[in-house]
Amino acid sequence: MKTNIFNMKKTIDQHELAEITNLLQRGKTVAFPTETVYGLGADATNKEAVEKIFSAKGRPSDNPLIVHVATKSQLLSLVKDVPDYVERLIDKFSPGPITYVLHHAGKVAPVVTAGLDTIGVRIPNHPVALSILKASALPLAAPSANRSGRPSPTEADHVADDLTGRIAAIVDGGMTDVGIESTVVDCTGEIPLILRPGTITAENIKNAIGACHVYQTEDLPEKPKSPGMKYVHYAPEVPLFLVEKSKIAELIHDYQAQGNRVALLYASHSLQRIPAEQRLYIGTDEHELAKRLYRILRSFNKRDMDMIVCEYPSLSENHAIIDRLKRAATEIIM
Ligand code: TXA
Ligand code: MG
Repeated sequence: MKTNIFNMKKTIDQHELAEITNLLQRGKTVAFPTETVYGLGADATNKEAVEKIFSAKGRPSDNPLIVHVATKSQLLSLVKDVPDYVERLIDKFSPGPITYVLHHAGKVAPVVTAGLDTIGVRIPNHPVALSILKASALPLAAPSANRSGRPSPTEADHVADDLTGRIAAIVDGGMTDVGIESTVVDCTGEIPLILRPGTITAENIKNAIGACHVYQTEDLPEKPKSPGMKYVHYAPEVPLFLVEKSKIAELIHDYQAQGNRVALLYASHSLQRIPAEQRLYIGTDEHELAKRLYRILRSFNKRDMDMIVCEYPSLSENHAIIDRLKRAATEIIM
C-alpha cells in the first residue's frame, strides 16, 4: 500500500483536507497529529476500517481504542449514564489531553471498545486533528500511531518509520506539543478514577470537581481496568535501565567492563566515562522532558548501542513521566 504524506505543518490546505476526509469516509486509515502524540485514525462506526488499525499496529484485539470527536455534544452523543461531574470536567479540560471512559451508547463498532460496555472518548486540542474531525463529521477511533509496544510517535517521521506501507496516509503537523498520551479517566463511578496518568493530574481534577482517585498499577488485578495497561509499552529498540542516581556511576562501570556500549540519560550530573555523543541531558523541566521523551527513546538503535541507562527523574511517583519510563524499562534499579 502506498502511504500518502500530507504536509500541514504551516497551513491546513482545504483541498488536502477534503482528500483526507474522503479517505476516512471510504474506510481508510490516516495518521494525524494531536496535541499529545500522533494517532492512527479510522471511522469508528465502520468495523472493517477499525480492523485495519489493529492489523497495521499489530495491536491485540482486546485492547480498546480511544474515540476522538470535535465537540462536547458529539462526545455526549456517544455515551450514556453520564455522572454530573463529567460535564464540568469537559468544560474545564476539553479540548485537551484527557480521555473520559464512560458507558457507551452503542454508536460505534464493537471492535473499537473490544466488546466492553464502556468507551474512551476525547476532544483533542490540535488544529489539524480538529479540522479533520470537523470536516469528516466522523467519530475517529485513534490509538497512538506506532507499532504496538514501541514508543508513541511525536513526529510524522516516527509514524513513517513504524507504519509506512501499512496505512493510507500520514498528516504531518510537526512535533506534538505535550509528547505523552492523554490522561485516561474512568468516569463510570461516583468519583473519577485515573487509569493512565498524563499531564492533567489527579490534583488538577480534584481542584476542578473536588475528588479524584488514582488507580494503582502495583495492585494490578488479573483483569486490569484499562486493558492497555497490561501490555509492554514504549519499549525502545535498545534495553533501558532506569537507575537511581547514586547507583549510576558504579553500574555503568560494571556494564562497560562487560563490554557494553552504554548511553546515559542524565538529569543531575553527567559522567566523563561516557563519550559526549552518548550522553543526553534530560533536564529538570518536566514539560520539556514529556515533549522530548519518546523522541529520545526512539533515537537509539542496536547497531550503535547495547543499553541505555536513564537516571530516575526526581518527580513524584505517580507522575506520567515516571509511569512511561517504568513501562519502557527492562529493569528498574533503585
Ligand atoms: O493521547 C492519547 O490518548 C493518544 C492520542 C492519539 O489521542 N491515544 C492513545 O491511544 O494513547 P492508545 O490506544 O495508545 O491508548 C489508549 C488507552 C489504552 O491503555 C486503552 O486500554 C485505554 O486507553 N482505553 C481505551 N478505551 C478504554 C475503556 N473503554 N476502558 C478502559 N480503558 C480504555
Ligand atoms: Mg499506545
